[in-house]
Amino acid sequence: MNIKDHIRGVPDFPKPGILFYDISTLLAHPDAWQVAMGRMAREIIKFQPDVLAGIESRGFLVTAPLALKLGCGFVMLRKKGKLPGETIRHDYELEYGTDTIEIQKNAIAEGSRVVILDDLLATGGTMAAGVQLLRKIGAHVTGAGTIIDLAFLPGKQRLKELDVPFTCLASYDD
Ligand code: PRP
Ligand code: MG
Repeated sequence: MNIKDHIRGVPDFPKPGILFYDISTLLAHPDAWQVAMGRMAREIIKFQPDVLAGIESRGFLVTAPLALKLGCGFVMLRKKGKLPGETIRHDYELEYGTDTIEIQKNAIAEGSRVVILDDLLATGGTMAAGVQLLRKIGAHVTGAGTIIDLAFLPGKQRLKELDVPFTCLASYDD
């Protein structure tokens, strides 16, 4: 089965000239989704995680089933102001302005092996911020994974510079 057959490219979303790779069609197809999560589980297990960290919001869709499959904890990396209790933040640059990602304090024991997951890697800004946040709290980030990689953007290179091995199911060159 080719995962790409179940991913829809939507032209001109969210802006003219952008082709949006939409996983809704993959999620809506239970057999294809099952295959996708099975393949991803086989790659992610190689990073020997104790915990999977999922990036809000589409990253949660990938992380929850994989955590169940691999018997790992699932920790949420959320946009600012969504998590109760004490949190640790990391601010990062966007094309215009900045954004903030948060985790609950003590959500992950220091030295835990953590794999960070999202649906898609583009510029890598979001994933890099997640890695930096996890490192701030003393986690050992052993790998990163997504369903889709936009290979014409520098995401993979950024993860390489951060020394985080990366795996994905479907890579697009344009
Ligand atoms: C999208 C996507 C990734 C991120 C990738 O999330 O789900 O999280 O952008 O882009 P980057 O590699 O350039 O940082 P989005 O911010 O659209 O939010 P959502 O997941 O809540 O829909
Ligand atoms: Mg996202």
